[in-house]
Amino acid sequence: MSMNLVTLLYLVASVCFIQALKGLSHPTTSIRGNIFGMTGMAIAVLTTIALVHGQARALNVDFTTGIAWVLAAVVVGGGLGAFMANKVEMTKMPELVAFMHSMIGLAAVFIGVAAVAEPWAFGITAAPVAAVVGARTPDGAVLFEGFVRHAIPYGNRLELFLGAAIGAITFSGSVIAFGKLSGKYKFRLFQGAPVQFSGQHMLNLVLGLATIGLGLVFVATESWPAFFAMLALAFVMGVLIIIPIGGADMPVVVSMLNSYSGWAAAGIGFSLNNAMLIVAGSLVGSSGAILSYIMCKAMNRSFFNVILGGFGGEATTATDGAKEQRPVKSGSADDAAYMLSNAETVIIVPGYGLAVARAQHAVNELAEKLTHKGVKVKYAIHPVAGRMPGHMNVLLAEAEVPYDQVFEMEDINGEFAQADVAIILGANDVVNPAALTKGTPIYGMPILEAYKAKTVIVNKRSMAAGYAGLDNELFYMDKTMMVFGDAKKVVEDMGKAIE
Ligand code: TAP
Repeated sequence: MSMNLVTLLYLVASVCFIQALKGLSHPTTSIRGNIFGMTGMAIAVLTTIALVHGQARALNVDFTTGIAWVLAAVVVGGGLGAFMANKVEMTKMPELVAFMHSMIGLAAVFIGVAAVAEPWAFGITAAPVAAVVGARTPDGAVLFEGFVRHAIPYGNRLELFLGAAIGAITFSGSVIAFGKLSGKYKFRLFQGAPVQFSGQHMLNLVLGLATIGLGLVFVATESWPAFFAMLALAFVMGVLIIIPIGGADMPVVVSMLNSYSGWAAAGIGFSLNNAMLIVAGSLVGSSGAILSYIMCKAMNRSFFNVILGGFGGEATTATDGAKEQRPVKSGSADDAAYMLSNAETVIIVPGYGLAVARAQHAVNELAEKLTHKGVKVKYAIHPVAGRMPGHMNVLLAEAEVPYDQVFEMEDINGEFAQADVAIILGANDVVNPAALTKGTPIYGMPILEAYKAKTVIVNKRSMAAGYAGLDNELFYMDKTMMVFGDAKKVVEDMGKAIE
């Protein structure tokens, strides 16, 4: 395959990836986005196989075993990926993403090690630096063959160091993030609670400097021990960076690791002189960084605040225990159904609890019944409701809620004051008016202004706090009625009562 054709096909694949990112930004276009992504990846993989095949032929190297390995990896990896993605529950999605990132990081490390060992096989033109003359016995038998030692150019060494180091941090960091998100393992480092000890930041700093130092020794001398020592430190750093962060902050961390994995791939792409890897890596790296920024902004937290461990870690304990009991108005699902069916306009606010209860289908049925009765129903989506970007959009799309009923925060906030009922299902922080009060941990976080509605119905199981660990004044307002219970059961009961 000619280099021009390879470049053209890589360009087509890059355009597909850009279209994929664009498509994935909205539920209505997300399937198209996925198709673009899969097409781009298929073009990229097939073109790379053809390219390597051509290079192997030019060097007179047999590529049959190589291609068999590649195809086996595609079948095993692709099969496992499809199986896992098909099986995963929506609330477990960040876990799956963390697992995928760990694999990308490990791949970057493996490629880095292989490229240092056999630079020629990766298209790195290593310059001859020394000739070692072979030796023979006096009767002419070969004692050892002579060879020419090649050096990897300095630029490539730097790229390999960066790519492999970021890959190693991504791998071990993602493994810890996966463990914390799954919450299934007894191992202390996999617990949601932050692991903190004195001198932690200083240790991280020293390790970071040592990693850079060893990397630079590798760049200067091409020393294998320096390269492996640098990798070992990078693996340890990945663990140390993630353990002090609370489990609930993991989605931001996963998006940050997503960004790292992209930069690791781009770094390796530079070493291998592979434009596709550079473009795809940069797209992943920059989109991950933008996503982390958007998430932090929507939570009104600084990126460093998350990385250094903040309120996410204390989420479940902050208001438990010493909290004084204050009276709230509570009612049954039947009471709520009565209020809903007598309203003209109802705004539904879905939150994390709705996802946990898997109540999205029940909510859609409830909304259909209300619409049938002539009630105008809208859904209000907060950008960080739930535990991952777009969580609520995906949830509602899964239940086939009509898109024209779903509104983003900035589009619907102006309508709460006119709404007869705002019904909050398993949401807490995203409707917490504490965000308007200076000095509270969530001060400045934009919220859905449900407290402005004429009547507010809140469904949750108890008076426990949400992710930020804060009490919510909305629950104690005169116009608020609490309906306690699991979201699915409560919403189903409301639906039955409306019938
Ligand atoms: P939260 O503030 O976490 O509140 C969820 C509420 O759901 C809890 O108060 C809980 O109360 C209730 N709940 C749990 N299981 C339930 C069930 N089965 N049935 C009914 N209710 C249930 O959720 P939110 O309002 O969606 O806010 C999201 C929070 O996560 C924000 O603070 C956000 O900053 C943070 N966060 C979001 C993201 C992204 S990207 N979405 C990433 C990281 C962090 P009970 O226990 O009393 O039932």
